[in-house]
Amino acid sequence: MLNWDDPLAAFSGPAPKPFVPAAPAPNELNEEQIDLLLQGQPAKAPVMPANAPNRDVLPHKTIFPAVSDRHPTEPHAGATGLENIVMGAKRIQVDDKQIINCRADLNQLVPFKYTWAWQKYLDACANHWMPQEINMNADVALWKSQDGLTEDERTIIKRNLGFFSTADSLVANNLVLAVYRHITNPECRQYLLRQAFEEALHTHSYQYIVESLGMDEGEVFNMYREVPAVARKAEWALPFTQSLGDPTFKTGTPQDDQRLLRDLIAFYVIFEGIFFYVGFTQILSMGRRNKMTGTAEQFQYIMRDESMHMNFGIDVINQIKIENPHLWGRDFQQEIIQLIRDAVEIETQYAKDTMQRGVLGLNVGMFSEYMQYIANRRCSQIGLPEQYAGAGNPFPWMSEVLDLKKEKNFFETRVIEYQTGGALSWD
Ligand SMILES: [Fe+2]
Ligand SMILES: [Fe+2]
Repeated sequence: MLNWDDPLAAFSGPAPKPFVPAAPAPNELNEEQIDLLLQGQPAKAPVMPANAPNRDVLPHKTIFPAVSDRHPTEPHAGATGLENIVMGAKRIQVDDKQIINCRADLNQLVPFKYTWAWQKYLDACANHWMPQEINMNADVALWKSQDGLTEDERTIIKRNLGFFSTADSLVANNLVLAVYRHITNPECRQYLLRQAFEEALHTHSYQYIVESLGMDEGEVFNMYREVPAVARKAEWALPFTQSLGDPTFKTGTPQDDQRLLRDLIAFYVIFEGIFFYVGFTQILSMGRRNKMTGTAEQFQYIMRDESMHMNFGIDVINQIKIENPHLWGRDFQQEIIQLIRDAVEIETQYAKDTMQRGVLGLNVGMFSEYMQYIANRRCSQIGLPEQYAGAGNPFPWMSEVLDLKKEKNFFETRVIEYQTGGALSWD
């Protein structure tokens, strides 16, 4: 069984694999140096830690003679993968690679530096699934029956389809239009490409549920423009990706590198790591009560994918911190803590808006604690202090749901364990 490396499982299952940095932790910069860097004065303070390779004498410099011709005011931009080929240039070494602002050729996957990124790519491919393979017959019968579902249960289903159907497109657009070109490492990009496809599958899954149930697709797909509880989370996230999606934006200064780091935290840690969890819990609770089991199974596969997206993002964030410690100053940490605290309020409000009263054995008080519990986990995963003392996990079964083999007895529908690679039969 693959290990999904879900952080929430740490409290009810095996401990997650510790993050293994790909480079030794560099020397810390003092506050004065950090302030100088944040004021946009990179020449007055060391941008790279003392024991890191000097970018100006990297052995691959001859590959990109254009670097020395660059206009002196141009930001220290990384490679894109679309540079001219320089015949006979020195071969890429592992030490040439870095997550952001790398100048080494991005079209060469190997030699690997970040093996965790490649492993996540392999694990994600082994998890492949397709929405239309999940049997929706029981859901269709229940949705169309007069008395099979309460109005509160119908509201939960509609609100969550409304939120997720556009949220996954927003995540995909953030990935391909804002994040991808600034992550200057081929093995990380390989995972990003797989993640982007999975986000497309998730949007496909919501469309497939809406179509199967015969719901009003205009109502569902416009909810993020018409229902404030759904709109609020997308509105919160948009500024982070808009600032990065600006075609003139480049990393290379401390302020711009922080913009990228802020976007990564906003989307991986908060959007996928906090804003998805009320909806996941509500729909999966339904499945555990033998209602809307096909929809719940779709969400189960999606949550498994999302768990890996978030863990990949956290590894990227931590690696950027290791390679660029000047970005992780006290003020920035405080700003991130505030973003996470705001997210807890927003997601708790979403729980209130989607449940006017207790439903399916769930109530708002449980979600309030769950959001605090999750926020504590997210903080510790990126090296911040936990914010909510004593917050417990009211839904310990959520981490079990990630293990499809253990959980399949809860569902009537068939669990598909996809056959990949050499296991495929072609006759
Ligand atoms: Fe997704
Ligand atoms: Fe995702």
